[in-house]
Amino acid sequence: MQPTLSLGPFQGITDHIFRNRFEEFFGGIDKCYTPFFTAIHKADSKNLHGAELDPKINDTSRLIPQILSNDAAEIMRFADFCAKLGYEEINLNMGCPFQRVARKKRGSGILPYPELIDQILAFYFENPPLKLSLKCRLGYLESYEIENLIPVFNKFPLAEIIIHARTGKQLYKGTADQAAFIQIKNQFREVPAYNGDIFRVSEFDNLRLHMPDVDHFMLGRGLLADPFLAAETKGTQFMDKKFHLEHFLTAVFNDRLRETNYSLATLGRMKELWSYLRWSFDDPVNIWRLIKKTNSIESYEAAIKSIFLEYEWKGSGFSNSRI
Ligand SMILES: Cc1cc2nc3c(=O)[nH]c(=O)nc-3n(C[C@H](O)[C@H](O)[C@H](O)COP(=O)(O)O)c2cc1C
Repeated sequence: MQPTLSLGPFQGITDHIFRNRFEEFFGGIDKCYTPFFTAIHKADSKNLHGAELDPKINDTSRLIPQILSNDAAEIMRFADFCAKLGYEEINLNMGCPFQRVARKKRGSGILPYPELIDQILAFYFENPPLKLSLKCRLGYLESYEIENLIPVFNKFPLAEIIIHARTGKQLYKGTADQAAFIQIKNQFREVPAYNGDIFRVSEFDNLRLHMPDVDHFMLGRGLLADPFLAAETKGTQFMDKKFHLEHFLTAVFNDRLRETNYSLATLGRMKELWSYLRWSFDDPVNIWRLIKKTNSIESYEAAIKSIFLEYEWKGSGFSNSRI
């Protein structure tokens, strides 16, 4: 049986436009997560009303809205809102590594506090409006912190646990600790989903051999650097990859321009994506130089044209040596 593949959320990159165009051009992904929402101060918070959750432009059966919070009432408000829109599940972010988040016991900063997590989950599961899954790391400071969390997680009917096999302190550096994941995975009520450092089809196949009971893999930077990756693990073949990718990027760029009334902030978003994509071409340094200096719609479009004319697509370019 093919395992489920999901697209990991990336703040600033995997917005509704990216997700929808990705599905149209590449596929291979079974479900997606929104980048995290925060600051849900009211039942009808303004920041929930945008396109990101709008069920008219998002497939509520395969999109899972994510929240970053350690406030049980706020998580409840978010779940209530998402339930009304027709979503089936929300995801709680316990993985964000950034200091400003973590020092407030949010994201991966909550992982050293099993009692706090217990309280939050107990409150939620008293009267859950929707299924709740969570995404966490192996720990904040040390990877053994997860051992203290497993008994807490096992008390509750969580829809799923996705583990990014790093610690919070590691940020996105070093390598994901697959051995630590394998060691703990069978202590959970259900085998958790695996996330971390899947950059090429061969690595994915190898990972599957080492964890045959894992039935959900979340792809991250590997998929941003090589959007063909998920479909290729399922055997899909693409004819002219450069042509395909160029059309995808044009569609994302134009959608974003239209949605923002031609704001130049769109360039920043495209550059974020290129900071990963460049690694799958034959000259990442020069490509980055070309992209980085663009400061208008015209200069960006000219840079893209010359990249697709002059450089070769290699695929699967992102690896730990480049982090
Ligand atoms: C710029 C950036 C933004 C991210 N935003 C989110 C987010 O909003 N929610 C989340 O759960 N993970 C977020 N992540 C983590 C990724 O989804 C993923 O878990 C991580 O990159 C590890 O997977 P990988 O090694 O396959 O890239 C972010 C990562 C980066 C680098």
